[in-house]
Amino acid sequence: MKRIVALLMVVAVLLVGVGTAFAQRVDVGIVLPTKDEPRWLQDVARFEDVIAKTPYSVEVLFSQGSSAAEKTNVETLIARGAKVIIICAHDAAAAGIAVEMARDEGIAVISYDRLITDTEAVDYYVTFDSVAVGEAMGQYLVDNVEGKDNPLYLYAGALTDNNSFLFFQGAWNVLQPKIADGTFRIINSAQARNFAGIKDLSREQQAAIIGEITTDWDMNVAKSKAEAHLTAATAADKGVCYILAPNDGTARSIADVFAADPDVTAYYVTGQDAEKASVQYIIDGKQSMTVFKDTRVLATDAMNMAIEIIEGRTPQTDAFYFNQVIDVPSKQSPVIVVTKDNVKEALIDSEYYSASEFTGL
Ligand code: BGC
Repeated sequence: MKRIVALLMVVAVLLVGVGTAFAQRVDVGIVLPTKDEPRWLQDVARFEDVIAKTPYSVEVLFSQGSSAAEKTNVETLIARGAKVIIICAHDAAAAGIAVEMARDEGIAVISYDRLITDTEAVDYYVTFDSVAVGEAMGQYLVDNVEGKDNPLYLYAGALTDNNSFLFFQGAWNVLQPKIADGTFRIINSAQARNFAGIKDLSREQQAAIIGEITTDWDMNVAKSKAEAHLTAATAADKGVCYILAPNDGTARSIADVFAADPDVTAYYVTGQDAEKASVQYIIDGKQSMTVFKDTRVLATDAMNMAIEIIEGRTPQTDAFYFNQVIDVPSKQSPVIVVTKDNVKEALIDSEYYSASEFTGL
């Protein structure tokens, strides 16, 4: 009897082991930078919708703002037999090591939203048109300005994110002529003032400006920089202010700082991501615009691309992005400018959000 029980226990352990190994096998691994920013929670929710419809097994892991955790995530996915890894890097260059490990195992790598730089180990890139994002921000400020000598405050994303360069490049394309002709006067960046005469900035020149005005994609950094800038500025540098804020989280914290300054009579501030909190800010007149990047499209495109790769088909691409080493074949999605005027049409009628999530619509 004892021997039968022991045998049954061994069989049970083996079955659990096989079950676990089976459950852990993954066809497509998705690595996202952090759970702590609403932008990436939007992507997860959209991925979950797409995952529910695919016959392939998919696992989503978060790197929580750490390149070391990101590398561990990639190792986990390699160990689980992933055939494709979709990765949005925390740090564009640091992620190179992780994706090179995947490449060595014959796994296809899709850069998601943020391009991984300085490596050949990126097969495809699925993205929004990030230069267009920056251009839309710059255009919004230009469309709302009159006369000369208007105070312009510039903020950027993290230096470790290739998108920060693309967003800034787009904004600069539109703003630079208006800085050069005296419509705007840059208040908070000596570097940007240095290069004010140059339309096409080199990567190094962009890096010098971004390094000075970076928010690190962190609302608290954005807040303290804005406070320091307004403390240093004179009343003449305030009045009606024009603010290039790189995304919604930083836009809200910068907007709060400007709104609290008695010498700021009005402000225009940009953003992107259509985060719920910013949509409410737009409805309330506290944030001027956001650039809506429909994450339903991006998640679907990335998953379809992964399935095509698994099934031996060649994904369709429509652009190339240079990652400082190779031109990466890319699939690019358009973006939509959202202001108070079209918020309902763009975000509610399109069923991205429901009206009940907001007040005062
Ligand atoms: C994304 C933005 C996001 C930012 C901070 C960028 O790479 O494109 O949508 O707001 O990272 O997470």
